[in-house]
Amino acid sequence: MTSTSVDYQKILNQINQEFIDQPRSGKVASYIPELAKVPSNKFGMHLYDLDGSNYCFGDSQERFSIQSISKVFTLSLAMKVMGDKLWNRVGVEPSGDPFNSLSQLENDSGIPRNPFINAGALVVADVLVSSFSNAKAALLTFLHEITGNPQIDFDPVVAASEQSKGYRNYAMVNYLKSFGNIENDVEDVLDFYFHQCSIAMSCQELANAFIIFANNGTTIGSEREFLTGRQVKRVNALMQTCGFYDEAGEFSFEVGLPGKSGVGGGIVAVHPDRFAVAVWSPPLNPKGNSALGMASLERLTTLTGFSIF
Ligand code: DON
Repeated sequence: MTSTSVDYQKILNQINQEFIDQPRSGKVASYIPELAKVPSNKFGMHLYDLDGSNYCFGDSQERFSIQSISKVFTLSLAMKVMGDKLWNRVGVEPSGDPFNSLSQLENDSGIPRNPFINAGALVVADVLVSSFSNAKAALLTFLHEITGNPQIDFDPVVAASEQSKGYRNYAMVNYLKSFGNIENDVEDVLDFYFHQCSIAMSCQELANAFIIFANNGTTIGSEREFLTGRQVKRVNALMQTCGFYDEAGEFSFEVGLPGKSGVGGGIVAVHPDRFAVAVWSPPLNPKGNSALGMASLERLTTLTGFSIF
C-alpha cells in the first residue's frame, strides 16, 4: 500500500490479467520499416509514485522506440532556452488533425498549431539546432540528467529507417522553411528530429523521466529543479489538449490525464502530485495511438479513481 492507500500493484496486476490474453486490436506502425519488426504482443506498464515506489508488469523493462513521446523532452528543452519567444513560432491550440497533417500550415502561414504535431515538433527541433552546437548531445544530456540514467541513447538503425521513408517530414520542413519558420538547413533539422524519435526507452525509464511533470519540474530523490512550476503547467496543459492529436478529446474523456503517445506504441501520462505512468503495446488505433495503451490507462484511472477531473 502507498501513502495514498491505493494498492497500485494489485490494480496493475488486474489490468494485466484483463488484457494479456485478449486479441490485440490495431496495427503496428509500418511506415517506419524498423517499427514493423516489433512483435505486436509486447505489453508492459510501469507506475512511478511520487513517494518513490515503483509498480509494474510485463515488458516494462524492455526498451522500445519512444517516437513522438520525445516531443515532450524537446519542448521542455526549447522552453528552457527560448522562454516565451517560442510561442511566436509555434501555437498552443489543438489541431484536430492527424499528427502528420500538412493542411493547416498554409492557412496558418507556417506557424504550426502546437508543438506535438510533427510540424510543431520540427520547429522545436530547429530551435534546438540553433541553440546548441550539438543539439543531439544536449538532448541526451537533458535526459540523462532528469533520469540519472546515462544509458539512454538514440537507436541509429531506427533513425536511418525513418529517414529512408521520411518523405512527409521532408515535405513539412521544406514547407515550414518556405514561410521562414526554419532557420537551419533542412537536413540538419531532420537529422535531429529523426534521432529524437529514435530514442529507445523502457516504460520504467519513461515513468522515471516524466516524474518531473508530476512534481512541479523537480526530480524526486535528488530534488533537482529542471523546469519551473509555470513551465510544467504549460507542458501538462499541452499534453492534455494536444498530446494525442485528433484523439486528444477521447483520451481526456476516457483517461483524464495529461499524456503523450508515440507510434512505437508507448504512452506516458502523469497525475500531478501523484505519479507518472508509462505503458507499451505496439498495435495502434487509426489515430496512431496505442489501442491497448489507452485501454490500460482508462482502467488505471477508473480502478484508482485518480484522474485529474
Ligand atoms: O515523424 C513521425 O512520423 C514519427 N517519427 C513520430 C510520429 C509519432 O510518434 C506520432 N504519435 N503518435
